[in-house]
Amino acid sequence: MMFTVAIDGPAAAGKGTISKAVAAHFGFDHLDTGLLYRAVGARVLDGADATEAALALSPEDLEASNLRSAEVAQMASQVAVISEVRAALVTFQREFARRPGGAVLDGRDIGTVICPAADLKFFVTARPEIRARRRYDELREKGEETSLDTVLADVKARDDRDMNRADAPLKPATDAVLIDTSDLSIEDAVDKVARLIRDQLPPSV
Ligand code: DC
Repeated sequence: MMFTVAIDGPAAAGKGTISKAVAAHFGFDHLDTGLLYRAVGARVLDGADATEAALALSPEDLEASNLRSAEVAQMASQVAVISEVRAALVTFQREFARRPGGAVLDGRDIGTVICPAADLKFFVTARPEIRARRRYDELREKGEETSLDTVLADVKARDDRDMNRADAPLKPATDAVLIDTSDLSIEDAVDKVARLIRDQLPPSV
């Protein structure tokens, strides 16, 4: 059975948590496509050329321990503007989407560019202040010294760059289901997405 779920949205809206939870629930494979751009960003911070790093990316690069830092996130958003970088990552993502047991991909352009024919598409969002608070709590938990104002400015800068780039900008696919997690618990958001997936699955699954 092939079944592809596309989950897009801005930073810290909850799409990663929702994707992981529904993938585990249905036994689908999950790809956090942001990690691809973060891995390229991390290589660039080490002095590599962005396009060369994207072309040479290997699965082990996605395991690097620093990929979740705020510095890498900003660089990921910057390398994501480069069309050659995006092009280098397309095949891997599309092949992942066709995995026989079902696949959930989360990112910015999955429903619009990578998998326009996905079986189900979601656009997960939340107000910037709420997303900044979540990201701030996450970073603090990992021991990163920062302030809420800095994180909010980072989130807004990333939103702005991701939404306004020429190639594959962040925007909801016209057929995406919108999920606003500003006033929704993560459990309720997961339930809502899982129910919609269940409704679309062939009866035998
Ligand atoms: O989802 P994330 O925060 O890990 O993504 C980091 C950056 O990577 C994001 O700011 C923009 C870029 N990105 C992208 O351009 N397209 C994707 N499908 C996923 C991420």
